[in-house]
Amino acid sequence: MTDLSKLEADLGAQIEAAADVQALEALRVAALGKSGSISGLLKSLGSMSPDERREQGPLINGLRDRVSARLAERKAAVEAAELDARLAAERVDLSLPAPPRRKGGVHPTMQVLDEMIAIFAEMGFSLAEGPDIEDDFHNFTALNFPPKHPAREMHDTFWLPENEQGERKLLRTHTSPVQVRVMQKTNDKLPGWIASGQEPPIRIIVPGRTYRSDSDATHTPMFHQMEGLVIDKAIHMGHLKWTVDTFMSRFFETPAVETRFRPHHFPFTEPSAEMDVRCDRSGGEVKIGQGDDWLEVAGCGMVHPNILRNCGLDPDVWQGFAFGFGIDRLGTLKYGMPDLRDMFASDRRWLEHYGFSPFAMPNPATGLS
Ligand code: PHE
Repeated sequence: MTDLSKLEADLGAQIEAAADVQALEALRVAALGKSGSISGLLKSLGSMSPDERREQGPLINGLRDRVSARLAERKAAVEAAELDARLAAERVDLSLPAPPRRKGGVHPTMQVLDEMIAIFAEMGFSLAEGPDIEDDFHNFTALNFPPKHPAREMHDTFWLPENEQGERKLLRTHTSPVQVRVMQKTNDKLPGWIASGQEPPIRIIVPGRTYRSDSDATHTPMFHQMEGLVIDKAIHMGHLKWTVDTFMSRFFETPAVETRFRPHHFPFTEPSAEMDVRCDRSGGEVKIGQGDDWLEVAGCGMVHPNILRNCGLDPDVWQGFAFGFGIDRLGTLKYGMPDLRDMFASDRRWLEHYGFSPFAMPNPATGLS
């Protein structure tokens, strides 16, 4: 006959010693599970005489009830202790300084680009785009640069190696090739974002990256231009001057801005001009509307009849003007950066200083920056 009080004492000691919920579960199975020690005793009742059963029954059942109660009690205690330990381990010290937040900003070039788009959109211009890797035809030939003419050398072109077709592509030296792409109908299968074949009247701006082998305080090998093209009937130089002047005063938001037009030569415009902005570059920053420096910010002119012809438009019906702004240069003038090269040096401190909040979208009605 099993010694019930010894069994109860042993189980009690094991239950007290059990350190976690899994150990308790193992003990429960060993005592009360299908082939557990107490279950075995309960089963043995069946083979007892009625008298024995009457005596042993309550004892064994009582043992079973007390052991299950002790198991449940110990389980609750172990769980409470485990929870306390977890809470202590996972405690959050609210007085600790927060980890630094990674903060992105809008690059000044992109800010200026958004400002320019906002102003030109208000004037009724829509956006067009073309590829950075251009062919000689769009970058030069169609723009009236004669073959082998020194004017091609005016732009220090980055040429790509000759391809299988014996053709040398280039990194576009200006956004003007998109003028041709916009006006000319083509059978080429072009990706949808590349402009082509618009019917006049045309009123577009073309922002994009441009490349020339050149580097100093006002030149970088990669820079951004904003081309503008208007093609309509009876368009004249006065429309051009009004458009760029109006843009400049809207962009700089100050009456101090002073511009001048200088006669110039571009093969694709006639007459042609360059626009300069008065500024002072003598100190550590650029001040607009002061000093005796003039910084060139745009080339412009009336679209040369040859360009219209090259694009299948009759120059006796259609005229137009075009302009090309240096986006980064406008940024250096407006936001006072003395050296254009810093724009693309990826210096975190510079970017944090001159960057803009992504939440402040330029809006001509509520302020541009
Ligand atoms: N493409 C010229 C340049 O990069 C600028 C320009 C654009 C001039 C449009 C006239 C008309 O220098």
